[in-house]
Amino acid sequence: MLRQQEAHAGARRDTHVFGILRGEFHECYPTIFVLPTSSGRELVVAPFLISPLSPRKRGGGEQLRPMSHHETTVQSYSEKGSLSYEDPANKNFLYGDITVRFIKNIIFPPKDRVVLDLGCGTGFVFDETYQLFHDRGIRGIGVEPADGMRQIAMTKYRDDHSYSFLAGSFEHIPLPDRSVDHIVSTLALHWVESLSVAAAEMRRVLNPGGNADLLMIARDDGARFKKAIVAALRRHLTFGQIMATATLVQRVTPAQVKEAFAPFVGSFDVDVHRFDEVVYGRFADHMKWWQARSSPVIAEVRDKKQFMQDLREELEAIRIDRGIPFDASYLWIKITATESGMSSL
Ligand SMILES: C[S@@+](CC[C@H](N)C(=O)[O-])C[C@H]1O[C@@H](n2cnc3c(N)ncnc32)[C@H](O)[C@@H]1O
Repeated sequence: MLRQQEAHAGARRDTHVFGILRGEFHECYPTIFVLPTSSGRELVVAPFLISPLSPRKRGGGEQLRPMSHHETTVQSYSEKGSLSYEDPANKNFLYGDITVRFIKNIIFPPKDRVVLDLGCGTGFVFDETYQLFHDRGIRGIGVEPADGMRQIAMTKYRDDHSYSFLAGSFEHIPLPDRSVDHIVSTLALHWVESLSVAAAEMRRVLNPGGNADLLMIARDDGARFKKAIVAALRRHLTFGQIMATATLVQRVTPAQVKEAFAPFVGSFDVDVHRFDEVVYGRFADHMKWWQARSSPVIAEVRDKKQFMQDLREELEAIRIDRGIPFDASYLWIKITATESGMSSL
């Protein structure tokens, strides 16, 4: 991955970044940009998840405005993503497989009565823990900002009163203080705009002695694969189209996660582990998860059939005997809310 780190230490973490990029970094195309922020954390602008400039109703008139980072992500998941997300080929391969292994390794201590899944999507965590929760009488609450994803979860669990699903996010958890024994989250935390805000909300709703197990994409995840995607996009979109529609994803290191949680030392014990593995697959295998999770990427591509052929060519170019590689990197963040620290709330 090429890193363009000069001269943009002041780049802001909002949509104005793209204006700066278009104006100043045209020659950097087609890289994946890593933007240092004033807090020292890096944000990656990766044309991996692309969202279109969408017409939005404003004051009665139809106008074009860039969607915010959060709106873009949530809309993307609500639309096509939610439909293809339940596909077994998505759930059994790469991120789906990583998620299943992560969930299997979570320890739910005997005290757990209420488990909250943040960014629950279509209910993946509860699908995997169903028998355990049933046997132990554990209640599951899913919080999810994307209507399309949440509706699927609600429909699946509509006859089971042990589960409820609420609109909300890491930044706004619609639950009272100290109402949850255990927070779980899979592949959603990298979408937050501020890890510290998310940490404060988690601390608020967790009971003293409660736990959190969070699975999050790490820095450099899928670097080779994303370069191939960008190379294919170059044949169809202008630099402006790619960068103007790129979204911001937090790709952090364990040290940066610890830093974001530092204000909560005393009330949170935080452990962060990084895992790296290469997952090989055929083009069709990769397309299942890629289309489920990155559906808007080709929204502005006119000749979608040709684009898929070009993407195939770029991905086949990095294939080795075992298949097309994806360099997966992810973090497991384990938190315990200490009894003493919580008393200051
Ligand atoms: C890759 S999906 C994972 C869904 C589910 N946890 C799973 O593993 O199948 C990411 C989810 O995060 C949600 N999300 C995006 N921004 C979020 C935020 N700020 N807070 C909570 N969830 C968010 C998306 O709507 C989407 O459902």
